[in-house]
Amino acid sequence: MSIKVPYVPTPTSVAMEIIKRTKPRPGEVIVDAGAGECNIVIEAARRFELIGLGIEKDPVLVKRCLERINAEGLRGRVYVAWGDIFQFNYSIADIVYLYLGTDVNKELAPILFSTLKRGARVVSHDFEIPGYKPTEVGSVKGPLRGHKYYLYIKT
Ligand SMILES: C[S@@+](CC[C@H](N)C(=O)[O-])C[C@H]1O[C@@H](n2cnc3c(N)ncnc32)[C@H](O)[C@@H]1O
Repeated sequence: MSIKVPYVPTPTSVAMEIIKRTKPRPGEVIVDAGAGECNIVIEAARRFELIGLGIEKDPVLVKRCLERINAEGLRGRVYVAWGDIFQFNYSIADIVYLYLGTDVNKELAPILFSTLKRGARVVSHDFEIPGYKPTEVGSVKGPLRGHKYYLYIKT
């Protein structure tokens, strides 16, 4: 996969509103595919009592995730995997969060939906997953702009 996706964080308040739309339940596993500094998995673990797993390829960002997980006392509740989102088996996930881009979503979707368990929710910030029908499309007000989300459920 050659498309480069830079680190642009979702405002945390926006991400939490988007995750709320997936109806998270305590103890469920959320995976952020391309996790940056792990803001989302850390806050989702706190806010919704989820188990967080960030996948990130940039070692500098992975290090930052590890420092934060340790400093914030979240070991055992939040994890980070240094790796490629295209090489991951998503069967562990109840919720997958994406903020990647339409082309990347298109390429990732077959891997995602072939490994996810039935009933798992995928929520994509700003970008749809081409060729897949969302169960819900909505928008969330952010500090600077509106943020669209697309929610999919694995059937
Ligand atoms: C737009 S940022 C989103 C960060 C975070 N999910 C958020 O919403 O705040 C995309 C992140 O995906 C990471 N990324 C891009 N391609 C990746 C890949 N193939 N495997 C793992 N991480 C990747 C980038 O390094 C970047 O940190």
